[in-house]
Amino acid sequence: MNRLGVIIVAAGAGERMRAGTGTRVVAQSPKQFLPLAGRPILAWSVEAFCGAAEIVVALPPGMLDSFDASPHKTCEGGASRTASVRNALQQLSPDCDLIAVHDAARPLVSRELIARAIATARAHGSAVPVVSLNDSIRRTTAPETPNQTSTPVDRSSLRAVQTPQIFRADILRRAYENATEDFSDDASLVEAAGFPVTLCEGERRNIKITEPLDLLVAQTILDNDSNSF
Ligand code: CTP
Ligand code: MG
Repeated sequence: MNRLGVIIVAAGAGERMRAGTGTRVVAQSPKQFLPLAGRPILAWSVEAFCGAAEIVVALPPGMLDSFDASPHKTCEGGASRTASVRNALQQLSPDCDLIAVHDAARPLVSRELIARAIATARAHGSAVPVVSLNDSIRRTTAPETPNQTSTPVDRSSLRAVQTPQIFRADILRRAYENATEDFSDDASLVEAAGFPVTLCEGERRNIKITEPLDLLVAQTILDNDSNSF
C-alpha cells in the first residue's frame, strides 16, 4: 500500500495573469486566489487530491492567512517554484512513500489523471503527465526581435508537460537535496539528479491558468461539465 503525500505549489505571484493580454485585467491578488465558479482556484486544486494521506500547500510568504487550508498543512513558499517545493517537502512526514507535486494553477485536474499518475509512479518510480501539441512549432534565434530567423521543429516528438508529477519519495527527496539550481518543473530537477523519468498520458482540460484567457476557458469547461448532468 502506498501512502501519498501531496504538495500544492501556490506561492507564485501570477505576474502573467496580472499583466493581462488584452482581454481584461482580472488580478489584484495572485491568480491562485481568484474565484473560479465561486471558489478560489487553489480550492479546486486542493480538493482534487482529497483522500491523499497528507497535503501541504505552499503559500506566498506573508500570505499564510489568505487561504484556509484546514485540515491540511501550509508552509511559506520561496522565491522560485523549486524553493517552494523544497520548503513543502520539509513539512511532509517521512512515511509518505509517494509524493505528488501539483501546480495550484491547474484546478481542472481529474481524479482519473491522478489515479493514472499514481499507477505509473508505483510501477516506474516517477510519472510525468504530458500532452501532444496542436500548433506547428518553430525555433527562433531571437524571440523578441522583429527580423528573427527561425526554423521549423517536428512537433510529433514534442510533448507539453503538466502536473501532478508523482515520484517515489526517496527519489524526489534525494533530487532536492542535490539540486543547486532552479527548474521549472520537478521532472527536470529529478532528471538532472540522474534519475530517469517516466511519462504518462496527461489531459487537455488540465490547463495551467496563466493569463486571463485561461480563466475564461476553465470557466467554460466547468459550465460544460455541469450541463452534461
Ligand atoms: N509557484 C510557487 N512558488 C513560486 C513560483 C511559482 O509555488 N515561487 C507556483 C505557482 O503558484 C503555480 C505553479 O508554481 O501554482 C506554476 O507556476 P506559474 O504558473 O509560473 O505561476 P506564477 O509563477 O505565479 O505565475 P507567473 O510566472 O506568471 O508569475
Ligand atoms: Mg512562474
